Amino acid sequence: MQQPSLETKASQKTWWKESVIYQIYPRSFNDSNGDGIGDLKGITEKLGYLQNLGVDVLWLSPVYHSPNDDNGYDISDYQAIMDEFGTMEDWEELIHETHKHGMKMIMDLVVNHSSDEHAWFAESRKSKDNPYRDYYIWRPGKAGEEPNNWSSAFSGSAWQYDETTDEYYLHIFSKKQPDLNWENPKLRKEIYSMMTWWLDKGIDGFRMDVINFISKVPELPNAPENAAGGGFGWGGKYFMNGPRIHEFLHEMNKEVLSNYDIMTVGEMPGATVEDAKLYTDYEREELNMVFTFEHMDLDSGPEGKWDLKPFNLVDLKRILTKWQKGLHDRGWNSLYLNNHDQPRMVSRFGNDTTYRVESAKMLATVLHMLQGTPYIYQGEELGMTNIRFDSIDDYRDIEILNMYREKVVEQKEDPKKVMQSIYVKGRDNARTPMQWNDSENAGFSTGKPWMNVNPNYKEINAEQAVADPDSVYHYYKQLISLRKCHEIIVYGEYDLLFEDHPQIYAFTRSYGGEQLLIVANFTDQELPFAKLEETMFEEYALLIGNYDSRDEKNESTTTLRPYEARVYKGKTKN
Ligand code: NOJ
Repeated sequence: MQQPSLETKASQKTWWKESVIYQIYPRSFNDSNGDGIGDLKGITEKLGYLQNLGVDVLWLSPVYHSPNDDNGYDISDYQAIMDEFGTMEDWEELIHETHKHGMKMIMDLVVNHSSDEHAWFAESRKSKDNPYRDYYIWRPGKAGEEPNNWSSAFSGSAWQYDETTDEYYLHIFSKKQPDLNWENPKLRKEIYSMMTWWLDKGIDGFRMDVINFISKVPELPNAPENAAGGGFGWGGKYFMNGPRIHEFLHEMNKEVLSNYDIMTVGEMPGATVEDAKLYTDYEREELNMVFTFEHMDLDSGPEGKWDLKPFNLVDLKRILTKWQKGLHDRGWNSLYLNNHDQPRMVSRFGNDTTYRVESAKMLATVLHMLQGTPYIYQGEELGMTNIRFDSIDDYRDIEILNMYREKVVEQKEDPKKVMQSIYVKGRDNARTPMQWNDSENAGFSTGKPWMNVNPNYKEINAEQAVADPDSVYHYYKQLISLRKCHEIIVYGEYDLLFEDHPQIYAFTRSYGGEQLLIVANFTDQELPFAKLEETMFEEYALLIGNYDSRDEKNESTTTLRPYEARVYKGKTKN
């Protein structure tokens, strides 16, 4: 049989390119039993809501057995359900009902590390000759200190000393998240069979947690010291996109993924567009998509995430354009502006006060009109905003709490300044409970929620949004349904216009003799702008916009109102 050319294969139509994914952070989604913690039955109760929104695939953040040092990203049993979330029967009901509602479900796969309470680790730490020793990364200390200077992503050293065998184990995240040793073929085999077990239970794919961290440079060399000093350094260049990463992912694809019609998306901090081409190139048989972080790092200074810096639209456009052009006809983009690790997008890139609704819709327009698969994070479709708790005691995230302790308690930094950085960047911004209605606890739980709800739930909640035809929710519904009727939204080629315009993001998509024109005002000002639709198209129509259209027939320029976004579709002029 003749093989299709690379070009045809890469541009092949697939269900996961045409889909919209909805991310659920189960702990904060919906609590069915009043213990203050979201659960699986709670998700099942809301499937009608999700089906109405029109999303195709649900991604569940981890629901496995876990001591919850990092809210489930520390797994102690990959084949069991977290007690607080319910039982395996609840999970089976959830997937069955999800499919019945015409949606698919993907699971989070966290295999760069496990929990230190996993049975493998309990064995591994027992003795140097334990059969599980090599499931993790152990090293002797150097002159009574850690084996190298790597810092953990959650503050402090990336090494933890273990008395039993007088050695250290590596943990890029918390000390309760020891890194697994992918150099060990036995470990890889166990992971592949666990993945197969879940796929055979009917799941539709995986989101893979920091999957480009799994191959480390075996010598584990010292990293350059952090700008902030303190002796530690981020060892990323020795474990992000490491030496055997493509070999491991290809092996995983051959052993597991290629046996199913599923989708995969790899979370990949530090992956460049060149890396992503390799990870997602159809011919190379690794993954379908990656999550890039380049656009998430735009508002960070040289000292990293907590070093605040305003974002600049020209930079955002440059980065998104690089990914759009770089992966076109080669791989595939995943599109997101927030998730459980990032602040709320309307607070970060829009305006969460006067123009909350307009800017939430504008950002959604831009995102859904780019080429790639869009991801919606729970509550985004309501325009949920960041949270500001007065006291550090109301925060729950290990990253925030460790950073606060290090900076305020140990390094005596100004607590006000540190709180300010938490308000802007903290992960708990995205983790406050989902706002279902204006009753107590936003209808999330009848008990005391594990984290306080955002007090703005009285105005911002799903019940209100569903009832209001002009809500952010209804706008998302419209964007999602447009994707189903216009192939150009999925497959059209992207081109940037006015790359240096500091306030407006304008771009086109082209497909089969037609074009989309997208214009979006990223400011709270009215801005004059050329009526491009008239020069570009013979005939055109407004596909969607976040304001009422206005009659400007006799004017040569248009006015874009604060955070206005419009999408035109027309026939390209020859
Ligand atoms: C990325 C996950 O999204 C984040 O929530 C988690 O803390 C780390 N990986 C470690 O698993």
